[in-house]
Amino acid sequence: MILCTDIKQLQRLSATARQAGKSVALVPTMGALHEGHVSLIHAAHTENDLTIVSVFVNPTQFGPHEDYEKYPRNLAKDCKTAEAAGADIVFAPPADKLYPHKDPVWVEVTGSISKVLCGRTRPIHFRGVATIITKLFHIAAPDNAYFGQKDAQQTEVLKRMVDDLFFPVRLHIMPIIREADGLAKSSRNIYLNPAERKAALVLYKSLKQAQKLFLQGEKNSDVISTAVRSMIAAEPLSTIDYVEMYTLPGLITVGKILDKRTLLAVAVKFGATRLIDNTILEVDA
Ligand code: PAF
Repeated sequence: MILCTDIKQLQRLSATARQAGKSVALVPTMGALHEGHVSLIHAAHTENDLTIVSVFVNPTQFGPHEDYEKYPRNLAKDCKTAEAAGADIVFAPPADKLYPHKDPVWVEVTGSISKVLCGRTRPIHFRGVATIITKLFHIAAPDNAYFGQKDAQQTEVLKRMVDDLFFPVRLHIMPIIREADGLAKSSRNIYLNPAERKAALVLYKSLKQAQKLFLQGEKNSDVISTAVRSMIAAEPLSTIDYVEMYTLPGLITVGKILDKRTLLAVAVKFGATRLIDNTILEVDA
């Protein structure tokens, strides 16, 4: 496996592969690779000839009081994990190379898709994500790119960006990977102390309860969100940021009666750590 830190070198490696008729995959990550990332790399490796994993903690998607400085970084470990999962190249450029200008060019997906859910408390987040993914798509020129369903709003934002800017890239959204007890894998889980880690299980439990109600025939969006909200609020270590539902695709506000494919998304703080999770309520066509 090649560790590449140079933009031009990665452009050459990708171009050479494409000229030889090979398919190129990109798995964008911020490192701290866990089984969720491994499932993306594995899928990319299985379905493509060349798999590039980018490891870059993107400064522009963190707000001023967020965890950019303390975000876990361990490139040597990430390289081993990526290689074992099937990566051919790890691309880990320095920040000043990816952002060469003090006043960068921004890519912003406007409208409610970036403003609801996490966009409310993280107003610059999705602009940072869209900008870095644009740069990475231009550099790696992948045919296929792999993202996790855990970041459901990110995937909706990126689908819109790819569609609106005519990127010749196919997005693959892979299922959420969970710990044995149901906690969604996240690089931020390591911030939780044992009591918070235990308390955080309420996220999965409440989403499962929502699925159960829904499958039993409950279609009233207020009833479902109230059930989820009360379960989470009953956990003393939790502080709810949001429990909300939007229709898919495009994150449109749901009506009172669920009649479309619906994303039920939650963001909750346990101590200083904010976790997100979600499930999709599938309405029969
Ligand atoms: O999901 C992430 O880890 C990041 O938002 C991404 C897509 C790698 C962009 O920095």
